[in-house]
Amino acid sequence: MLLRYKLDAVPRNWGLAAGFFTILVTFHFIFLAISPYGVDELQLSGAEANLSTTKTDYSIYNPLKNVLGSKEPAKAYAPPSTNYSAMYPPPSDEEYVAICLAVRGQHADLPEFMTHHYHHLGIRRFYIMDDGSEPPLSTYDDYGIPRKHITFHYYNRTTDHVPDMQDHIYNSCMNLWRNEHTWMAFLDADEMLEMTGEEDLTTLLKRLEKNRMIGALAVQWQTHTSNGLLKRPISARKGFTDCIWDGTPTHNQMYKSIVKTEFHNGHNHVHQAFLTDNTLTVGEDGLNVPLAARNPITRNRIALHHYALKSREEYEEKIARSNAMDQPKDWSFWESVEGMGGVPCFEMSTYDP
Ligand SMILES: *[C@@H]1O[C@H](CO)[C@@H](O)[C@H](O)[C@H]1NC(C)=O
Ligand SMILES: *[C@@H]1O[C@H](CO)[C@@H](O)[C@H](O)[C@H]1NC(C)=O
Ligand SMILES: *[C@@H]1O[C@H](CO)[C@@H](O)[C@H](O)[C@H]1NC(C)=O
Repeated sequence: MLLRYKLDAVPRNWGLAAGFFTILVTFHFIFLAISPYGVDELQLSGAEANLSTTKTDYSIYNPLKNVLGSKEPAKAYAPPSTNYSAMYPPPSDEEYVAICLAVRGQHADLPEFMTHHYHHLGIRRFYIMDDGSEPPLSTYDDYGIPRKHITFHYYNRTTDHVPDMQDHIYNSCMNLWRNEHTWMAFLDADEMLEMTGEEDLTTLLKRLEKNRMIGALAVQWQTHTSNGLLKRPISARKGFTDCIWDGTPTHNQMYKSIVKTEFHNGHNHVHQAFLTDNTLTVGEDGLNVPLAARNPITRNRIALHHYALKSREEYEEKIARSNAMDQPKDWSFWESVEGMGGVPCFEMSTYDP
């Protein structure tokens, strides 16, 4: 009797358990589908992740979204419409990696930027994409490095301006000069690279070049505060020796990209490009990074020093000027950066010239 009862009961209980399990699994997948967090986990899981199936979750990044000017990705790649080849000097073998800069009226910052990258990173091609400076940046004489390494490209504010100008400018750099460089770095005039390990930039990039899964290197920010300075120092590298922490929250989770020109497929965002062939944007450790932030924060091979505020006087000018993306900074960004400060960072102050 007892035995018969058990034999009857087993299938009934299993049915119940199976039903419960099915409901559980269904809810799990519904939750995953509506939760942006689940999607980002995929991206973090390393080089196997298929970028074309992942999405960026900007809600995670919301606290900093406004101050840093992030936006939703939606860019089609514009093929070159003009043949500019004849307008510019031919490339040289030294130009393995170039820097593309979108700038407006930052003439005072450029000599130190170029001097640093020329002497300490070995950069031999600077594309100064001048977003309507008046007078044009090409009219100044002294940039601290031989003039033949600088290419100026001027956009008239009245006739050449388009929405999302900075992405447009980055795409133009690629359209015009992608065949002349293996890598292109997309930086701002207030950002400076530093090789923090034993390698030089070319050695690091040549190592990454061999891996055909890699389409771009994300270089992590090291954000500098105002150092309490009211006036512009002679040198940003020597004047701003206070940085923000890597804790939570921090602006240091952001990065800028050095992209393999072969795989660039239109700039998505000032921080990252779309890539072809399922190639990935990776950190210095070779792991895939999501669109909005790179965690954990490391700078063991390469760092991007971001002079986000500079002095009080320069920040006031920056607010007045608005940046190339037409997303002017305000004082909440200043306060946010200053509030995370207090970490001494003298690395850059040791570089001469
Ligand atoms: C990546 O995902 C896309 C879209 O689902 C698919 O067509 C492609 O084959 C995938 N690539 C790899 C390498 O898995
Ligand atoms: C662009 O111009 C260069 C130099 O004048 C020329 O050699 C090249 O064939 C042109 N390319 C196209 C696609 O017209
Ligand atoms: C920009 O274009 C407008 C209209 O063609 C012209 O009047 C103006 O002088 C140009 N500005 C510069 C700096 O070239």
